[in-house]
Amino acid sequence: MTQTRTPMVAGNWKMHKTVAEAQILAREICRGLPVPLTVDVVVAPPYTALTAVAREIQGSPLALAAQDVFWESQGAFTGAISPMMLTDAGCRLVIIGHSERRQYFGETDDSVNKKIKAALQAGLTPIVCIGETLAQREAQETLTIIASQLNNGLLGLGPAEVGRLVMAYEPVWAIGTGRTATPAQAQEVHHFIRHWLRDQVGSTVAEGLRILYGGSVTPENIRDLMDAPDIDGALVGGASLQAASFLKIVALGA
Ligand code: PGA
Repeated sequence: MTQTRTPMVAGNWKMHKTVAEAQILAREICRGLPVPLTVDVVVAPPYTALTAVAREIQGSPLALAAQDVFWESQGAFTGAISPMMLTDAGCRLVIIGHSERRQYFGETDDSVNKKIKAALQAGLTPIVCIGETLAQREAQETLTIIASQLNNGLLGLGPAEVGRLVMAYEPVWAIGTGRTATPAQAQEVHHFIRHWLRDQVGSTVAEGLRILYGGSVTPENIRDLMDAPDIDGALVGGASLQAASFLKIVALGA
């Protein structure tokens, strides 16, 4: 990454951790954060643990994110959580468009777009996930897919709104598989994303925006990934479930 952007390391706990387990993990992470901290560090527990983790990290530099959000502000939407409910629970950020939401819960670029707008409206920072499947990569469609996810997912957003996003490139074939993209593979897509953003909203916004890499990030591979000029941090799944490995990634991601 370049020095002008503050790196971000975000832990996506997915459907893991009871409230008590989440509190312990959050406490351990807080205690182990490097001083001084030169990275923005975020944890995204499941909904049920948000309030407890918010209490646990109060006064620490750790920021709280949710893993999803609905775009309506209230009403008869059984099972859904509004942006305002997330800010009320202490969230500053929200992951939107994760490939597991796309794969198992019918998330589309259109719903991603609505969620981004609603999250921004509520003052949340969206971490917007995009990425290609293995079949798409093998068919040489990676950049076409990325462009279409950007075109449709960020539709109607102006430079000021785009400037408030964090992007995350997560190749679906690298998530939870132990098969990380090489720094060169990731850099190619990150560069493409930044270029696309520059064309749409100008170079000031594009240069200031963080693009995280996600997909089997570990303490062993984070350094090489972060050396790539357009990789500004990581969205970490499996390796964020234990304080020791997550803290190593935070330390090496600086
Ligand atoms: P992983 O998950 O680190 O377990 O591959 C990353 C993610 O899904 O954000």
